Amino acid sequence: MRSSALLVLTGFIAAVTNATPVAPALPQALPQLKRLHIRQDNTTNSTAPCAQVSQAIYSNGGPASSIPTVPAKIAYECIQSVPFNATSAMKLLDSLPPYLAWQSTLTVLSNPPDEYAKKVQPPVDILGGVEKLKASIGAGQFKSEYEFGWALYTLIQSAHDGHFTYVPDSVGSIFNFGRPVPLVSVSEDGKKLPAVFAYYDVLGMQFKNISYTPSPIVQINGQDVNEYLEGLSQYGSLQDRDALYNNMFYELAQISLGSSGSGTGMFTGGGRGRWVYPGPTTTLKFANETSYTMENYARVLQSFRGINTGEELATQWFYYGSNAASTQLGESASPAALAVTAPGYPTPVTPGPSNLINGFYVDAPGYEDVAVLQVPNFVGETSVERAFQKTTQDFLPKAVADGKTKLIIDVQANGGGTILQGYDMFKQLFPSILPYGANRFRATEYVDLIGQAFSAYASKFPRQSTYNQTLMSIQGSYFDYHQDSNENYERFTSWADKFGPIELLGDKFTNIARWNLSDVLITYNSGGINITGYGIYSNASSNPPPFKAENIVILTDGYCASTCTIFAELMKQQGGVKTIAMGGRSNKNPIQAIGGVKGTNNYAWNYIQNLGQQAVEIAPEGQDEKYNTTFKPFYANIPYNRAATNPGANVRDGLRQNDTSGVPLQFIYEEADCRLYYTPEMTVDATAIWKAAADAQWGGKGNCVTGGGYGTKREAHEVTTSLKPRRVSPRAQASLLQQFEAFEKSFVLQTDCTMHGDGFMHP
Ligand SMILES: *[C@@H]1O[C@H](CO)[C@@H](O)[C@H](O)[C@H]1NC(C)=O
Ligand SMILES: *[C@@H]1O[C@H](CO)[C@@H](O)[C@H](O)[C@H]1NC(C)=O
Ligand SMILES: *[C@@H]1O[C@H](CO)[C@@H](O)[C@H](O)[C@H]1NC(C)=O
Ligand SMILES: *[C@@H]1O[C@H](CO)[C@@H](O)[C@H](O)[C@H]1NC(C)=O
Ligand SMILES: *[C@@H]1O[C@H](CO)[C@@H](O)[C@H](O)[C@H]1NC(C)=O
Ligand SMILES: *[C@@H]1O[C@H](CO)[C@@H](O)[C@H](O)[C@H]1NC(C)=O
Ligand SMILES: *[C@@H]1O[C@H](CO)[C@@H](O)[C@H](O)[C@H]1NC(C)=O
Ligand SMILES: *[C@@H]1O[C@H](CO)[C@@H](O)[C@H](O)[C@H]1NC(C)=O
Ligand SMILES: *[C@@H]1O[C@H](CO)[C@@H](O)[C@H](O)[C@H]1NC(C)=O
Ligand SMILES: *[C@@H]1O[C@H](CO)[C@@H](O)[C@H](O)[C@H]1NC(C)=O
Ligand SMILES: *[C@@H]1O[C@H](CO)[C@@H](O)[C@H](O)[C@H]1NC(C)=O
Repeated sequence: MRSSALLVLTGFIAAVTNATPVAPALPQALPQLKRLHIRQDNTTNSTAPCAQVSQAIYSNGGPASSIPTVPAKIAYECIQSVPFNATSAMKLLDSLPPYLAWQSTLTVLSNPPDEYAKKVQPPVDILGGVEKLKASIGAGQFKSEYEFGWALYTLIQSAHDGHFTYVPDSVGSIFNFGRPVPLVSVSEDGKKLPAVFAYYDVLGMQFKNISYTPSPIVQINGQDVNEYLEGLSQYGSLQDRDALYNNMFYELAQISLGSSGSGTGMFTGGGRGRWVYPGPTTTLKFANETSYTMENYARVLQSFRGINTGEELATQWFYYGSNAASTQLGESASPAALAVTAPGYPTPVTPGPSNLINGFYVDAPGYEDVAVLQVPNFVGETSVERAFQKTTQDFLPKAVADGKTKLIIDVQANGGGTILQGYDMFKQLFPSILPYGANRFRATEYVDLIGQAFSAYASKFPRQSTYNQTLMSIQGSYFDYHQDSNENYERFTSWADKFGPIELLGDKFTNIARWNLSDVLITYNSGGINITGYGIYSNASSNPPPFKAENIVILTDGYCASTCTIFAELMKQQGGVKTIAMGGRSNKNPIQAIGGVKGTNNYAWNYIQNLGQQAVEIAPEGQDEKYNTTFKPFYANIPYNRAATNPGANVRDGLRQNDTSGVPLQFIYEEADCRLYYTPEMTVDATAIWKAAADAQWGGKGNCVTGGGYGTKREAHEVTTSLKPRRVSPRAQASLLQQFEAFEKSFVLQTDCTMHGDGFMHP
């Protein structure tokens, strides 16, 4: 499948491979947009926006691809023309609190630590926000389904918790938005403040013999470029503002994930950018006084055959009243294994599955002792869990045998995956250390009743691996007290012992739990792998660590979320490993290395629904009525019928060892040991990033950003003002270009929620 969303890339490929370009439009290096024709169909003569969308798709002999594109403007006007159904909206809002109650940070979000509120994100009252939405409905303030949907979407999104999402149908089911020109933020020399450039310029100066001097973007739509991008970045999934800023841009690590990553960046509609209307056009103004206007587009996700009005769109694709679950939440196909090497990466020494993990050496003089384990994901597909683990098992001893003494663990773009893969990788690096990994739930009545029912039921059967999935789903869950160890890594004695609750931070939480890595059911939760140091790998505990802590560094772009943060926490706190953070906003401040959700487990809402219904089925004797009443809300399907993707909640807080405050890791602000700016080379060559990291960590000659700090004005520092085109040999660059082209042809470059995992943040 190849969608017209690729218009960006086909445009780019045509531009860079065409030896004699035709009369270039200004600015030269930017791609010429394919005209998006809107034909006026004389027979129907419909001018309603949804009719225009339909005509744009079907008037020219049918859609060119399964996901056609239309101008953003008509898509937006169309979705805005879907009338508001206040009855359904009220029912939806009423159905949310039983699910919102599972969000572990619900209370702390409204009153976070001062440093978090100051440097990361402001407080947000989610339940209060739901009440306000109801009041707005009562006051007749919503004119369209979309206005309401967007208000609800941004309420949940403002928690900046990548596990916590509700994407209403109007926001995500019909259209996704995009811009055709990706951007990058680079420093000319790694020392000057970075500036924003069109990615084609940065490619051009390195791969092509361009005759002009790439000039930075100074304004977008008339607004200062930094303000504009920082503002837009706030619609991203991460909490950290520098990580959010990085996610606006084209980045090799995200590209390497294909459609499982955030594509060419949020600015182009990758990741959560696809749900933000970009306006009809976007105008870039460059420092050299030229400007360029692009037409923004929308991907059309549903059939528009016969649809001429917003009302017809609603009848066809909105499930207001139906009791049956809609078919919209079907699982998408598994990501196709990406056979080709990702662009900008060398050939791996130890290749892993689907570019989710790869082992590399740095092939450059002076870096002979450096190995790189590139881990942009912690998997989540049972079919490749074992191959993922084995890549590290093969690579580390091989690197040591080949004389490598330094290890860069590159987790750029890592949104997480299977929780226990994070534990396993840590154990492979530090075999003798028992991972801490404390976590807890909000101690709600739902959790308590499910725990009572599951624990009582599970206790009737021996705890052993069985092919009976029903039994495994109960005994292998948090809600059987036999699962997990307590804070001291001992067994819980009863459900009451596990549940607590503890009163803290204005809320109630369960007692601290830790994964029991020698549990007989561990493979039920690990995607089938045995954890290093346990089971068949128990002899590994006595292995020496393959690398010394000071010879390992964790490299991030701030986009390290979920299982990635679990892994990083173990590596930093228990392993004593340092971190390097790339990029960030154009300033000299220190930045955080870990910028994504630090909650340690996401539950899809339909899993919560299942737990509730299962608890009713196995309710303890004499408590049927209580269970029936309490879990009644989990029999309604309205939250699913009105959602574009399966909603999610973060159910477990992560907690730091020896921290008695009880504040979840999510709210702990923590600067990286070193910050490096991206340079132009780093946007086309991952090795350039690794060399800079090795220089900073071990070479004593790195460019770690220093000076400045909070409160220092941007103007006080020298800013990148232009990039000098390199003298390039087109012949030498041809193979690299081919690599970019082959890769981008091998998948549909659009964000797709194809990954799973119990510790994963969907892009
Ligand atoms: C449709 O309308 C346009 C302009 O109004 C006209 O030029 C064209 O001939 C019409 N086409 C048909 C098939 O009637
Ligand atoms: C098409 O519809 C518009 C508005 O509904 C109307 O103003 C216009 O006269 C119509 N044109 C024709 C050719 O029927
Ligand atoms: C509005 O939603 C309700 C369900 O809450 C449904 O019964 C009704 O048919 C919907 N109205 C329209 C116009 O679709
Ligand atoms: C690069 O461009 C310059 C002038 O624009 C030309 O003289 C030179 O031959 C070109 N080099 C290559 C390798 O194409
Ligand atoms: C100005 O900068 C833009 C963006 O780099 C570039 O496309 C254009 O060619 C430049 N124009 C001039 C006159 O240098
Ligand atoms: C699975 O186990 C449950 C409880 O032990 C039992 O009721 C059920 O029949 C079993 N299912 C199968 C397929 O064996
Ligand atoms: C882990 O689980 C196994 C049984 O599955 C049990 O024998 C062991 O005591 C547990 N360990 C801890 C620390 O809870
Ligand atoms: C995990 O260990 C069990 C024995 O404890 C073994 O049967 C199984 O094959 C192992 N699985 C993998 C993927 O190594
Ligand atoms: C550990 O056990 C595994 C499986 O039994 C074996 O393949 C491996 O060689 C052992 N490693 C050591 C260090 O003894
Ligand atoms: C926590 O405290 C214990 C006991 O003092 C110590 O062994 C451990 O290293 C500490 N952990 C961290 C992460 O500081
Ligand atoms: C609980 O609900 C189920 C299904 O709605 C019903 O069959 C059962 O009688 C109820 N039990 C009690 C005790 O209310």
